Amino acid sequence: MTDAGTTQREASRFLAVLDGAAVSPPPIWLMRQAGRYLPEYRAVRAEAGGFLDLCFDPARAARVTLQPIERFGFDAAILFSDILVIPHAMGRSVRFAEGEGPRLEPIDAEGIEALEVEGVVARLASVLETVERVRGSLPASTALIGFCGAPFTVATYMIAGRGTPDQAPARLLAARQPERFAMLIDRLVEASIDYLVAQLDAGADAVQIFDSWAGVLAPPSFRRWSEEPIARIVAGVRARKPGARIIGFPKGIDRAVAPFAAATGVNAVGVDWTVPLRAVRDELGGRCALQGNLDPMLLVAGGPALEAAIDDILEAMAGARFIFNLGHGIVPETPIAHVEQLIRRVRG
Ligand code: CP3
Repeated sequence: MTDAGTTQREASRFLAVLDGAAVSPPPIWLMRQAGRYLPEYRAVRAEAGGFLDLCFDPARAARVTLQPIERFGFDAAILFSDILVIPHAMGRSVRFAEGEGPRLEPIDAEGIEALEVEGVVARLASVLETVERVRGSLPASTALIGFCGAPFTVATYMIAGRGTPDQAPARLLAARQPERFAMLIDRLVEASIDYLVAQLDAGADAVQIFDSWAGVLAPPSFRRWSEEPIARIVAGVRARKPGARIIGFPKGIDRAVAPFAAATGVNAVGVDWTVPLRAVRDELGGRCALQGNLDPMLLVAGGPALEAAIDDILEAMAGARFIFNLGHGIVPETPIAHVEQLIRRVRG
């Protein structure tokens, strides 16, 4: 570790938790913290053109990454990008229809075989430039989180061509043609390793793997299609970047957090609001940090309900390795005053 790295690590409360410490008050950042609930984001978004244009514009993407840090002073910034830049870089058509979410050309058997893994990092050079710019502008005490989607979640969008409520198209392909599905997952594992290593090389201090749809899988399928590919990504990244700090976010896995932590070796597990923090904390016994898990709707609602929920989380996690976050992304309807209220309450 270089001197600069040591100094930075000591200064960041967020990285201290990933490295094994319990920090009080806990560090805080919010999933989707750069987004439409911020007027300054909407302004940059409007001048950028399409959403992907913004993701591939290093100057603007760096600006929106920094906006929530400047406004709220979160302990970590998260790279402004999207999990679907990977299928885009693998040669698939991806677009974001205004107000409708992502649209991809649904992938078939030939499409899976034609996926390009080599060259993914080169095609994401502009995102890596964003990482460099952001790390260069952030205070040393603010960590920078890079990310990718977990193979299963990315595959669900590639197969259905859009978001669906229960990921039936991906579950059907996995059930009907497990070898074909495995080929898609394997390619995504390889591309994700290359991409996360490149983000760490460009200056990310930690990376998060978003498995937003892990919860739709039956337990054996969850282990095969979510947990095991994430474990391979963690091992593949650490083989090239020993000690790389990695957060897993397997949304919807209920009580299976400790087995997930053991199987993947992540430094922290992000949990949604349905996960019983106290029970999971006891099961983990400090071997892995927890991150979460306020219901984003409570942040929309505000008031005494929000304060009570924050206090419950702080009480459940007092003295433990914990990073305060939401249980999923902040929604556009969230009042900025409620985010301020949250931060004040967490920081006491
Ligand atoms: O957290 C951050 O601030 C960093 C940026 C980030 C975005 N997407 C920006 C974004 C991150 C980490 C993501 C991850 C992502 N993208 C996930 C995993 C996390 C999750 O939310 O479950 C998923 C499933 C996607 C795919 C995706 N991107 C969807 C389904 C949508 C449409 C839904 C929506 O909110 O509009 C997006 C678009 C998107 N990604 C927006 C932002 C800020 C909104 C687009 C806009 O500004 O018009």
